[in-house]
Amino acid sequence: MAGKKIMADKLILAVESSCDETAAAVVKNGREVLSNIISSQIDLHTLYGGVVPEIASRKHTEQINQVIEEALKTANVTLKDIDAIAVTYGPGLVGALLVGVSAAKAISFATKIPLVGVHHIEGHICANFIENKDLEPPFICLVASGGHSHLVKVLDYGKYEILGRTRDDAAGEAFDKVARAIGLGYPGGPKIDKVSYEGNPEAISFPRAKVEGSVYDFSFSGLKSAVLNYLNQCEMKGIPVVQADVAASFQKAVVDVLVDHSMTAIRESGMKKFAIAGGVASNSHLRKAFEETCAKEGISFYRPSPILCTDNAAMIGAAGYYEFIQGNVSGYDLNAVPNLRLGER
Ligand code: KG4
Ligand code: ZN
Repeated sequence: MAGKKIMADKLILAVESSCDETAAAVVKNGREVLSNIISSQIDLHTLYGGVVPEIASRKHTEQINQVIEEALKTANVTLKDIDAIAVTYGPGLVGALLVGVSAAKAISFATKIPLVGVHHIEGHICANFIENKDLEPPFICLVASGGHSHLVKVLDYGKYEILGRTRDDAAGEAFDKVARAIGLGYPGGPKIDKVSYEGNPEAISFPRAKVEGSVYDFSFSGLKSAVLNYLNQCEMKGIPVVQADVAASFQKAVVDVLVDHSMTAIRESGMKKFAIAGGVASNSHLRKAFEETCAKEGISFYRPSPILCTDNAAMIGAAGYYEFIQGNVSGYDLNAVPNLRLGER
């Protein structure tokens, strides 16, 4: 072991409440998940066809303490074993974020366990470290979720260069809006994923948008409008809409753009490692498309299990660990920042 510094194990208690999942986890050394508790509010918001921020905050308040307790109990640890409390402080819904931030601050204040504010997107990226023990930066990562579509160069732990982002709707947002328009309801992503197996992805030709001046930026609002126009045209002409064909053709357009932009970034960076993250990364058709393309081009492809793609606290524990060991500890003035940008602290 000569020359190698041995560091004691670090246990992170992580809290996530940025949208519609109340989640807590215990993570060892950034990569080993001892517990990962997720209390989803999906059923509640389904009634309204999308996330209702006020209801989300109220539900987080009801759930947060028991979710944290369950995370500790499942991991078979107590607060005395915890080295740091990591919490998502942005981006997200302000009222929802505040619940997790307040809970984490209160525990930290009462126990003197250090507090670490974590960027939600950084959490999504770090979800890749959990099941891929060999993955180390640098690599390219596509983050596609309900609120974000980012192409990121992960330079080092906690160091990111944003290559491209969406100019309008996020990929997941487009899935949710199109699903609503074709009568699939909320949450749209998993429903389009499933119904697309019964449809023809070549049935309707939807646009693959390019953004002028940037090969890496995304734009999904034109695609969403094209789907809405197609549905209106069908209605006016009395042509029956084949739901599965619309879903499969829309999804193919999104997948093509995400793969195309990502492969350009991989080729131009010369990097041989590529990861995906965020709720849309759980899409089975997207995963297959990347598996095939990366295999063809000799790129190592990393993707978290679907449960670690959608919002969870284990990913916040992974990101929080790397921030903590670099000395990035937050004060009790940590606040919720709804539009926090990646790379800012
Ligand atoms: O990462 P996430 O759980 O929350 C945000 O940070 O936004 O992502 C949620 C988004 C939703 O828009 C949802 O429709 C989408 O991820 N999503 C999917 C799939 N599962 C979730 N999109 C496509 N295919 C899926 N299987
Ligand atoms: Zn998310």
